[in-house]
Amino acid sequence: MTQQSSQQIIEGQRQDWNRVAGGWEKWDRFFDEQMAFLNHRLVADARLRAGMQVLDLGSGTGYPALLGAQTVGPSGSVIGLDLAEQMLAAARRKAKALGLANVTFRTGDATALPFEANSFDAVTSRFCLMFLPEIPKAAAEIARVLKPGSWVVAAVWSSPDKNPYLMIPINVIKQFLDLPQPDPTAPGIFRLAKPGDLAGMLQQAGFTNLSEEEFVADVRFASGEEYYASLTDIAAPIQNLLAKLSDQQKIDARGRTITSVDQYRQSDGIALPIAVRMVAARKPR
Ligand SMILES: C[S@@+](CC[C@H](N)C(=O)[O-])C[C@H]1O[C@@H](n2cnc3c(N)ncnc32)[C@H](O)[C@@H]1O
Repeated sequence: MTQQSSQQIIEGQRQDWNRVAGGWEKWDRFFDEQMAFLNHRLVADARLRAGMQVLDLGSGTGYPALLGAQTVGPSGSVIGLDLAEQMLAAARRKAKALGLANVTFRTGDATALPFEANSFDAVTSRFCLMFLPEIPKAAAEIARVLKPGSWVVAAVWSSPDKNPYLMIPINVIKQFLDLPQPDPTAPGIFRLAKPGDLAGMLQQAGFTNLSEEEFVADVRFASGEEYYASLTDIAAPIQNLLAKLSDQQKIDARGRTITSVDQYRQSDGIALPIAVRMVAARKPR
């Protein structure tokens, strides 16, 4: 297979996430309730407080930008940047519904930030940086736009074996498709799963006070059907794999996935483990 250029990867990402924007809006309340703790953790690690100017990279439908805007209050502001206009359209609707006038969403690429140097008091990012073709370039851009002494904090997925939530359908799809061993340096869900990878790139970009933690939790679902529908509506990379299956294989994959998640059933529903790598770093004063 020919290698894609950075621009082709970025264009693919834009199309992928625009395609699933409706799914994100459909399941928004559910994921907001299920994964809000990650937003709180990011806001805390970024040391957000009233009056700050914050940049959120790959905001999608507004996570953690919306909580960031509530935290910095009317004297502060948040810009949520993302490639996918339709994800941002949903984020804008949510900001309006929440009555937040201090958050704006604009399209852009995290590796070429359209901002002056030293513009922001913090940068946050949830589940975006692993999809970039040139992560070190984004790290350098983040270092450029942050004010000295301020923090960047990012959440990325940890390793596949610790993320049954994501891996159950992927393992089922592998029963039908001969998937090639993924290139560990290619953009994708687990590109930054390795301990020290993202932290090392931030260090190379001049950041200090690096910290990293694997944050484990469960995501809860009422049923296997709810799990399958919600994940396949929002996870563009998993949709791309499913698209390679025949119609009958898709039906079988759904059935096998729903059967597989049953092993995670507890008295109050299905609890699927996730492991998220939380990385924080500071721009030197
Ligand atoms: C899994 S979604 C995460 C959205 C949101 N941060 C959340 O946690 O709910 C990944 C987002 O990263 C965005 N993205 C991917 N590559 C990007 C890039 N180069 N620059 C800006 N955003 C990008 C996608 O458009 C998508 O909205």
